[in-house]
Amino acid sequence: MKQKYLILNWKSKVTYDTALNLLDAVKTMADANAKIVVCPPYPILKDAIEWFKGTDIEVGVQDVSALPVGAHTGEVSAELLASMGVKYAIIGHSEVRARHKLKNADVKEKILAAQKAGLIAILCIGEDEKAYKTNKTNAVLKKQLEECIDERVAGETLVVAYEPIWAIGTGHAATPIVASDVIAHIKCITDDMYPFVVVPVIYGGSIKANNIADFIRVANIDGALVGGASVDPDEVLKILGVIEKKS
Ligand code: PGA
Repeated sequence: MKQKYLILNWKSKVTYDTALNLLDAVKTMADANAKIVVCPPYPILKDAIEWFKGTDIEVGVQDVSALPVGAHTGEVSAELLASMGVKYAIIGHSEVRARHKLKNADVKEKILAAQKAGLIAILCIGEDEKAYKTNKTNAVLKKQLEECIDERVAGETLVVAYEPIWAIGTGHAATPIVASDVIAHIKCITDDMYPFVVVPVIYGGSIKANNIADFIRVANIDGALVGGASVDPDEVLKILGVIEKKS
């Protein structure tokens, strides 16, 4: 089976001590047959990069500034992150979009900044419950993709995460069939944008140890983005149990 992505989004759910415990739990995943990317809060990045040196586990961030290095108090530039050894950036997560009132155009600027610095952007898109219930999912996602992905963005530096807002942190994951159908639609659009590149598309929203296998065994779902369960060391170890070891 081709390697699937396992992106762990710790959100702001850790303190320094619990984060260090979690780094140990994640390190036991080092020989798993998956592309693992741990996305802790900024102050843990340096520890995480040290912890996973010499392993295949990569470190990512949960957001990135659209602004370059400069006089921008409070911002964290993509160049700084890349120079530390960060490889991935989650961009446009619905929690960040809502809190900072981000528009798709703002998300686009962040993706461009990430790409310029050499980071791989994990672009989060997803519909709210109302759009889902009124069958507007595909239209909403198409608009998000078209407005968030600038034609200058190289497909090789992009991963798309389908994260229905109604499934995030609610315990109500989409079914693997729904996720797979929506991902097929997303892939039609990214294939049109990038005829010569396969852009991976993953699913996120209430993934736990007891349902992750149902998603990653589906051929067109290229992996999972795990939030809440990724800060529970027991869940992390169980998820590891589900993912095959490297042969
Ligand atoms: P959840 O979060 O796994 O807690 O639903 C997913 C996410 O926010 O990316």
